[in-house]
Amino acid sequence: MNRIEQTIKQCVAKSNSRYDLWLRFIQLAEVKNMAEVGVYRGDFASWLLREGDSIAKYYMIDPWRHLDDWNKPANKQNDTFERFLLETKEKTSFAADKRTILRGKTTEVIENISDGELDFAYIDGDHTLKGITIDLISLFSKIRVGGWIGGDDFSRTVWQHSPNYEPTLVFPFAVYFAEALGANIYALPYSQFLLEKNEVKSFSFVDLTGNYTDVGLKSQFNPAKVIKLKAIETFSTVTELMKGKRSIS
Ligand SMILES: C[S@@+](CC[C@H](N)C(=O)[O-])C[C@H]1O[C@@H](n2cnc3c(N)ncnc32)[C@H](O)[C@@H]1O
Repeated sequence: MNRIEQTIKQCVAKSNSRYDLWLRFIQLAEVKNMAEVGVYRGDFASWLLREGDSIAKYYMIDPWRHLDDWNKPANKQNDTFERFLLETKEKTSFAADKRTILRGKTTEVIENISDGELDFAYIDGDHTLKGITIDLISLFSKIRVGGWIGGDDFSRTVWQHSPNYEPTLVFPFAVYFAEALGANIYALPYSQFLLEKNEVKSFSFVDLTGNYTDVGLKSQFNPAKVIKLKAIETFSTVTELMKGKRSIS
Protein backbone atom coordinates (compact mmCIF):
# COMPACT_ATOMS: atom_id res chain seq x y z
CA MET A 1 0.00 0.00 0.00
CA ASN A 2 1.48 3.44 -0.95
CA ARG A 3 1.64 6.47 1.39
CA ILE A 4 -1.38 8.24 -0.08
CA GLU A 5 -3.53 5.14 0.18
CA GLN A 6 -2.51 4.83 3.83
CA THR A 7 -3.39 8.51 4.41
CA ILE A 8 -6.80 8.06 2.79
CA LYS A 9 -7.58 4.93 4.77
CA GLN A 10 -6.60 6.70 7.97
CA CYS A 11 -8.93 9.63 7.14
CA VAL A 12 -11.80 7.28 6.30
CA ALA A 13 -11.37 5.23 9.48
CA LYS A 14 -11.41 8.29 11.75
CA SER A 15 -13.97 10.53 10.05
CA ASN A 16 -17.62 10.83 10.99
CA SER A 17 -18.87 13.15 8.22
CA ARG A 18 -17.98 14.55 4.80
CA TYR A 19 -16.64 17.74 6.42
CA ASP A 20 -14.49 15.79 8.86
CA LEU A 21 -13.16 13.50 6.12
CA TRP A 22 -11.93 16.34 3.89
CA LEU A 23 -10.50 18.35 6.75
CA ARG A 24 -8.42 15.36 7.85
CA PHE A 25 -7.27 14.75 4.28
CA ILE A 26 -6.36 18.40 3.67
CA GLN A 27 -4.34 18.54 6.90
CA LEU A 28 -2.50 15.26 6.30
CA ALA A 29 -1.81 16.05 2.64
CA GLU A 30 -0.71 19.58 3.64
CA VAL A 31 -2.91 21.24 1.00
CA LYS A 32 -1.95 24.89 0.51
CA ASN A 33 -3.67 25.99 -2.70
CA MET A 34 -7.14 24.70 -3.37
CA ALA A 35 -10.34 25.42 -5.28
CA GLU A 36 -13.96 24.57 -4.59
CA VAL A 37 -16.32 24.32 -7.57
CA GLY A 38 -19.90 24.92 -6.41
CA VAL A 39 -19.82 26.97 -3.21
CA TYR A 40 -23.55 27.73 -2.71
CA ARG A 41 -23.92 29.28 0.79
CA GLY A 42 -20.23 28.93 1.71
CA ASP A 43 -20.67 26.41 4.53
CA PHE A 44 -18.01 23.95 3.38
CA ALA A 45 -15.61 26.78 2.47
CA SER A 46 -15.95 28.50 5.85
CA TRP A 47 -15.42 25.20 7.68
CA LEU A 48 -12.24 24.39 5.76
CA LEU A 49 -10.89 27.94 5.99
CA ARG A 50 -11.54 28.02 9.74
CA GLU A 51 -10.15 24.58 10.60
CA GLY A 52 -7.63 23.84 7.82
CA ASP A 53 -4.41 25.55 9.01
CA SER A 54 -2.42 24.47 5.95
CA ILE A 55 -4.68 26.34 3.47
CA ALA A 56 -3.09 29.52 2.10
CA LYS A 57 -5.24 30.12 -0.99
CA TYR A 58 -8.87 29.15 -1.58
CA TYR A 59 -10.55 29.75 -4.95
CA MET A 60 -14.35 29.81 -4.80
CA ILE A 61 -15.97 29.05 -8.16
CA ASP A 62 -19.73 29.50 -8.52
CA PRO A 63 -21.97 31.51 -10.88
CA TRP A 64 -24.37 32.37 -8.04
CA ARG A 65 -27.07 32.82 -10.67
CA HIS A 66 -29.98 30.80 -12.05
CA LEU A 67 -28.87 28.54 -14.91
CA ASP A 68 -31.55 27.77 -17.51
CA ASP A 69 -29.71 24.65 -18.67
CA TRP A 70 -29.15 23.09 -15.21
CA ASN A 71 -32.02 20.84 -14.11
CA LYS A 72 -31.06 20.17 -10.46
CA PRO A 73 -32.74 21.05 -7.13
CA ALA A 74 -29.93 23.45 -6.07
CA ASN A 75 -30.70 25.71 -9.08
CA LYS A 76 -32.42 28.63 -7.30
CA GLN A 77 -33.69 31.99 -8.54
CA ASN A 78 -31.28 34.91 -9.02
CA ASP A 79 -32.37 36.80 -5.88
CA THR A 80 -31.75 33.69 -3.75
CA PHE A 81 -28.29 33.25 -5.25
CA GLU A 82 -27.51 36.94 -4.57
CA ARG A 83 -28.31 36.24 -0.90
CA PHE A 84 -26.18 33.07 -0.94
CA LEU A 85 -23.20 35.02 -2.29
CA LEU A 86 -23.57 37.63 0.47
CA GLU A 87 -23.82 34.83 3.02
CA THR A 88 -20.66 33.22 1.63
CA LYS A 89 -18.78 36.51 1.80
CA GLU A 90 -19.87 37.09 5.39
CA LYS A 91 -19.10 33.56 6.54
CA THR A 92 -15.59 33.63 5.07
CA SER A 93 -14.73 37.30 5.77
CA PHE A 94 -12.34 36.18 8.54
CA ALA A 95 -10.21 34.62 5.76
CA ALA A 96 -10.58 37.39 3.15
CA ASP A 97 -6.83 37.38 2.51
CA LYS A 98 -6.92 33.68 1.56
CA ARG A 99 -10.04 33.53 -0.58
CA THR A 100 -10.47 34.47 -4.23
CA ILE A 101 -14.07 34.61 -5.38
CA LEU A 102 -14.47 33.62 -9.05
CA ARG A 103 -18.10 34.30 -9.91
CA GLY A 104 -19.08 32.35 -13.00
CA LYS A 105 -19.48 28.86 -14.38
CA THR A 106 -16.29 26.76 -14.39
CA THR A 107 -15.81 27.40 -18.12
CA GLU A 108 -16.18 31.17 -17.61
CA VAL A 109 -13.58 31.61 -14.85
CA ILE A 110 -11.19 28.66 -14.88
CA GLU A 111 -8.46 30.57 -16.73
CA ASN A 112 -7.95 32.74 -13.65
CA ILE A 113 -6.09 29.74 -12.19
CA SER A 114 -2.67 28.82 -13.60
CA ASP A 115 -1.79 25.33 -14.78
CA GLY A 116 -0.33 23.23 -11.97
CA GLU A 117 -1.19 25.87 -9.34
CA LEU A 118 -3.48 23.75 -7.18
CA ASP A 119 -2.70 21.00 -4.70
CA PHE A 120 -6.36 20.08 -4.47
CA ALA A 121 -9.73 20.87 -6.04
CA TYR A 122 -13.12 19.90 -4.64
CA ILE A 123 -15.85 19.48 -7.26
CA ASP A 124 -19.38 20.02 -5.98
CA GLY A 125 -21.06 22.00 -8.77
CA ASP A 126 -23.07 20.64 -11.68
CA HIS A 127 -23.24 16.88 -11.14
CA THR A 128 -24.81 16.00 -14.48
CA LEU A 129 -22.79 14.25 -17.19
CA LYS A 130 -22.19 17.61 -18.85
CA GLY A 131 -21.12 19.24 -15.58
CA ILE A 132 -18.74 16.57 -14.29
CA THR A 133 -17.15 16.20 -17.74
CA ILE A 134 -16.46 19.93 -17.96
CA ASP A 135 -15.25 20.19 -14.36
CA LEU A 136 -12.85 17.24 -14.42
CA ILE A 137 -11.34 18.24 -17.76
CA SER A 138 -11.08 21.93 -16.77
CA LEU A 139 -9.57 21.25 -13.35
CA PHE A 140 -7.13 18.47 -14.20
CA SER A 141 -4.53 20.74 -15.82
CA LYS A 142 -4.75 23.15 -12.86
CA ILE A 143 -3.60 20.44 -10.42
CA ARG A 144 0.12 19.90 -9.84
CA VAL A 145 1.53 16.44 -10.52
CA GLY A 146 1.02 14.50 -7.30
CA GLY A 147 -2.06 16.61 -6.39
CA TRP A 148 -5.69 15.56 -6.06
CA ILE A 149 -9.27 16.17 -7.15
CA GLY A 150 -11.98 15.30 -4.66
CA GLY A 151 -15.69 15.54 -5.12
CA ASP A 152 -19.20 15.11 -3.82
CA ASP A 153 -22.26 13.29 -5.23
CA PHE A 154 -20.36 10.17 -6.23
CA SER A 155 -23.81 8.70 -6.02
CA ARG A 156 -24.26 4.98 -6.70
CA THR A 157 -27.58 5.74 -8.37
CA VAL A 158 -27.83 8.14 -11.29
CA TRP A 159 -31.41 8.87 -10.08
CA GLN A 160 -30.11 10.67 -6.98
CA HIS A 161 -32.71 13.44 -7.40
CA SER A 162 -35.49 11.30 -8.92
CA PRO A 163 -36.27 10.91 -12.65
CA ASN A 164 -37.70 14.46 -12.72
CA TYR A 165 -34.16 15.78 -12.76
CA GLU A 166 -31.19 15.27 -15.02
CA PRO A 167 -29.28 12.16 -13.85
CA THR A 168 -26.21 12.51 -11.61
CA LEU A 169 -23.22 10.98 -13.35
CA VAL A 170 -20.22 11.83 -11.19
CA PHE A 171 -20.13 8.05 -10.73
CA PRO A 172 -19.22 6.32 -12.99
CA PHE A 173 -17.87 9.12 -15.20
CA ALA A 174 -15.03 10.04 -12.78
CA VAL A 175 -13.88 6.40 -12.90
CA TYR A 176 -13.78 6.43 -16.72
CA PHE A 177 -11.94 9.76 -16.64
CA ALA A 178 -9.33 8.33 -14.23
CA GLU A 179 -8.81 5.33 -16.49
CA ALA A 180 -8.41 7.55 -19.57
CA LEU A 181 -5.85 9.77 -17.84
CA GLY A 182 -4.02 7.03 -15.94
CA ALA A 183 -4.96 8.22 -12.45
CA ASN A 184 -5.87 6.37 -9.25
CA ILE A 185 -9.38 6.96 -7.98
CA TYR A 186 -10.88 6.09 -4.59
CA ALA A 187 -14.54 5.67 -3.70
CA LEU A 188 -15.02 7.09 -0.20
CA PRO A 189 -17.89 7.14 2.31
CA TYR A 190 -20.52 9.93 2.23
CA SER A 191 -20.69 9.63 -1.61
CA GLN A 192 -17.24 11.19 -2.05
CA PHE A 193 -14.40 10.39 -4.44
CA LEU A 194 -10.72 11.23 -4.57
CA LEU A 195 -8.60 11.15 -7.71
CA GLU A 196 -4.81 11.31 -7.61
CA LYS A 197 -2.83 12.96 -10.44
CA ASN A 198 0.03 10.50 -10.71
CA GLU A 199 3.56 11.18 -11.87
CA VAL A 200 3.55 7.91 -13.81
CA LYS A 201 0.28 6.97 -15.51
CA SER A 202 -1.38 4.08 -13.69
CA PHE A 203 -5.07 3.51 -13.24
CA SER A 204 -6.74 1.81 -10.32
CA PHE A 205 -10.23 2.09 -8.85
CA VAL A 206 -10.03 1.46 -5.11
CA ASP A 207 -13.47 1.14 -3.56
CA LEU A 208 -13.10 1.80 0.16
CA THR A 209 -16.84 1.39 0.72
CA GLY A 210 -17.53 -1.93 -0.99
CA ASN A 211 -20.60 -0.39 -2.64
CA TYR A 212 -19.48 0.41 -6.16
CA THR A 213 -19.50 -3.03 -7.72
CA ASP A 214 -21.02 -2.20 -11.13
CA VAL A 215 -19.30 0.60 -13.08
CA GLY A 216 -21.67 0.14 -16.04
CA LEU A 217 -24.94 1.97 -16.71
CA LYS A 218 -27.12 -0.71 -18.27
CA SER A 219 -29.03 -1.65 -15.12
CA GLN A 220 -29.51 2.00 -14.07
CA PHE A 221 -31.11 2.99 -17.39
CA ASN A 222 -33.21 -0.15 -17.63
CA PRO A 223 -36.64 1.19 -18.80
CA ALA A 224 -38.55 -0.97 -16.28
CA LYS A 225 -36.53 0.52 -13.43
CA VAL A 226 -37.08 4.09 -14.63
CA ILE A 227 -40.84 3.55 -15.02
CA LYS A 228 -41.01 2.08 -11.51
CA LEU A 229 -39.13 5.06 -10.02
CA LYS A 230 -41.41 7.48 -11.90
CA ALA A 231 -44.52 5.63 -10.65
CA ILE A 232 -43.32 5.77 -7.03
CA GLU A 233 -42.64 9.48 -7.40
CA THR A 234 -46.05 10.21 -8.96
CA PHE A 235 -47.80 8.18 -6.25
CA SER A 236 -46.06 10.07 -3.44
CA THR A 237 -46.85 13.45 -5.08
CA VAL A 238 -50.55 12.51 -5.41
CA THR A 239 -50.60 11.31 -1.77
CA GLU A 240 -49.06 14.61 -0.61
CA LEU A 241 -51.64 16.59 -2.65
CA MET A 242 -54.52 14.54 -1.17
CA LYS A 243 -53.20 15.12 2.35
CA GLY A 244 -52.97 18.87 1.66
CA LYS A 245 -56.55 18.94 0.31
CA ARG A 246 -57.85 17.04 3.35
CA SER A 247 -56.15 19.36 5.84
CA ILE A 248 -57.58 22.45 4.03
CA SER A 249 -61.13 21.06 4.04
C1 LIG B 1 -24.65 21.49 -4.05
S1 LIG B 1 -24.23 23.16 -4.24
C2 LIG B 1 -22.62 23.25 -3.52
C3 LIG B 1 -22.53 23.01 -2.01
C4 LIG B 1 -21.22 23.40 -1.37
N1 LIG B 1 -20.09 22.80 -2.04
C5 LIG B 1 -21.20 22.97 0.08
O1 LIG B 1 -20.71 21.87 0.39
O2 LIG B 1 -21.68 23.75 0.95
C6 LIG B 1 -23.98 23.27 -5.98
C7 LIG B 1 -23.48 24.64 -6.47
O3 LIG B 1 -22.94 24.43 -7.79
C8 LIG B 1 -23.07 25.62 -8.51
N2 LIG B 1 -22.94 25.34 -9.96
C9 LIG B 1 -23.89 24.84 -10.81
N3 LIG B 1 -23.42 24.78 -12.06
C10 LIG B 1 -22.14 25.21 -12.01
C11 LIG B 1 -21.13 25.40 -13.00
N4 LIG B 1 -21.36 25.10 -14.29
N5 LIG B 1 -19.94 25.88 -12.61
C12 LIG B 1 -19.70 26.18 -11.30
N6 LIG B 1 -20.62 26.04 -10.32
C13 LIG B 1 -21.83 25.57 -10.67
C14 LIG B 1 -24.45 26.13 -8.11
O4 LIG B 1 -24.59 27.52 -8.34
C15 LIG B 1 -24.52 25.72 -6.62
O5 LIG B 1 -24.21 26.83 -5.80
